[in-house]
Amino acid sequence: IAHGRVARPTPWWVGKRAALLERARAGTPRYVYDLATVRERARALRGDPVDRPFYAIKANAHPAILRALVEEGFGLECVSQGELEHAFASVPGLAPERVLFTPSFAPRREFEAAFARGAHVNVDAIEALQRWPELFRGRSIGLRLDLGHGDGHHEKVVTGGAEAKFGLPLSRFDAFVAEARRLGARIAALHAHLGSGIEDPRHWREVYATLAALAEGLDSVETIDVGGGLPIPYTPDAEPFDLAAWRAGLAEVKAAYPRYRLAIEPGRYLVAEAGVLLASATQVVEKDGVRRVGLDAGMNALMRPALYDAWHAIHNLSRPDDEGAVAFDVVGPICESSDVLGRARLLPAATAEGDTMLIADAGAYGMTMANTYNLRALPAEDVL
Ligand code: LLP
Repeated sequence: IAHGRVARPTPWWVGKRAALLERARAGTPRYVYDLATVRERARALRGDPVDRPFYAIKANAHPAILRALVEEGFGLECVSQGELEHAFASVPGLAPERVLFTPSFAPRREFEAAFARGAHVNVDAIEALQRWPELFRGRSIGLRLDLGHGDGHHEKVVTGGAEAKFGLPLSRFDAFVAEARRLGARIAALHAHLGSGIEDPRHWREVYATLAALAEGLDSVETIDVGGGLPIPYTPDAEPFDLAAWRAGLAEVKAAYPRYRLAIEPGRYLVAEAGVLLASATQVVEKDGVRRVGLDAGMNALMRPALYDAWHAIHNLSRPDDEGAVAFDVVGPICESSDVLGRARLLPAATAEGDTMLIADAGAYGMTMANTYNLRALPAEDVL
């Protein structure tokens, strides 16, 4: 596996080829997760200056992953009643204080369910307080803010700024505070999550400093949540995220505002590299000079390439000693022209029907976004 300038650790799956081929024989498409990698990422993130780490379960909701992360000290961040119920059902004895509910345009009944469960609820619209005053009266809540800008690996995952539907704009902060006061609702947390796959580690420092300065104007804030959004290096030439700079930036703000607990809620960083998607080659076809290998997994199993032009490394696990030599477009079985997992990928020339193919770094937003389009079955899932 050739890498660019940066020396990268060898992915976990390189040493597990035999085990993966055996799993693939049980049926493909199939996601396989390595819990040791999840735990390692969790240990790299938690700890000073982070007081309350949460995991955004939308990235990967496999029960074994949720249990491992709770064991590693993480709470769970949920965005729907379905996620809330899944979290409590998957993790026996999960304490409600370790659950965060940050929905977007959720119906009233989902807020009711979250309060009934005892989860921390984040609100991001003044209209919610106005429309459902009895729901929020006397409650402790978090306020999700839009700081007026956002960032991310693709425009479709930017969650701050005027184009985005998320968060209360700063221009309405005072009005929200007044409305909350009127209801006797206590703003116990300030929150911002401005996008996903943000490369610049200074982003979180700035968000933290902005939220902490705002918190100074209130007397109720205990927690500042700077969101998730940490990237992983998908392409061979991408730099790994500078975790030391991220931590140092947060520590600087923490030193200036020591009275607030710092919360984070990453998803991708914890699980993306821990998962691979195994698929079987169905057909190899040449058309107008383009060679294509078809897989039994396409945009139904892994939407990221079709939706965001996301790049995932693809390997032929059945021919490990055969150096990639011929360019293939790797496509799925779905009746859409966007059903391409990778273009012009160098794969062994002998790639053929029945080969087991591995799509790397598929542990985040893979299975959770899979669908049954064309009435194809959902992928299977295994944990190693
Ligand atoms: N907190 C909130 C409120 C969020 O909306 C999200 C993700 C996260 C935390 C976790 O973000 P992360 O650390 O994973 O970047 N499907 C897209 C990513 C969408 C992210 C949505 N929100 C993808 O596959 O790239």
